[in-house]
Amino acid sequence: MRAAEVHSDITEVLVTEEQILERLKEIAAQVDADYAGKDLLLVGVLKGAIMVMADFSRALKLVAPIDWMAVSSYGKGTKSSGVVQIRKDLDTDLTGKHVLIVEDIIDSGLTLSWLLENFESRGAESIEVFALLRKPDAAKVEVNCRYVGFDIPNDFVVGYGLDYAERYRNLRDVAVLAPHVYS
Ligand code: XMP
Ligand code: MG
Repeated sequence: MRAAEVHSDITEVLVTEEQILERLKEIAAQVDADYAGKDLLLVGVLKGAIMVMADFSRALKLVAPIDWMAVSSYGKGTKSSGVVQIRKDLDTDLTGKHVLIVEDIIDSGLTLSWLLENFESRGAESIEVFALLRKPDAAKVEVNCRYVGFDIPNDFVVGYGLDYAERYRNLRDVAVLAPHVYS
């Protein structure tokens, strides 16, 4: 489904599917070079990262296993609570692994900084972050993010895995949700 098909629910398309796939190719080439010869593990953060993981992992030339973590800090609203809960932990032992966390979006940064701290104690060789989207104006804590797809304005966005109350994840593009949908 393209953004045009739900045009009354959105105010603006920020990043199109084509722009995302183009950018993923560039970042995949960088990651291929940076992790050559290393034991890379991709860790996706459910559920928002499902689309970016699917497209990014297939753009890589490296063979890399994929694991998933489910955390929640949001509930139904549009603001981060900062209280993070593990809903599903990793299946993989991180000892000696080079971990690349794949995230949909860094908003306040609270979720990722919590996750990074949690991962530090698990014996990984290295931990880096790839976020498809980042809202620089919303940052409450500094997160060391090695790969960023797009910096975007401080609006609530949906699509390409990102939801509002579980809806719009299957939108191909990233778009700003119209305030009348959530207010
Ligand atoms: P924080 O604020 O902790 O946010 O960096 C992390 C998680 O919150 C979700 N999030 C969003 N989801 N549109 C969404 O659909 C947004 O604009 C948005 N901002 C944050 C997302 O799951 C992210 O991983
Ligand atoms: Mg997320």
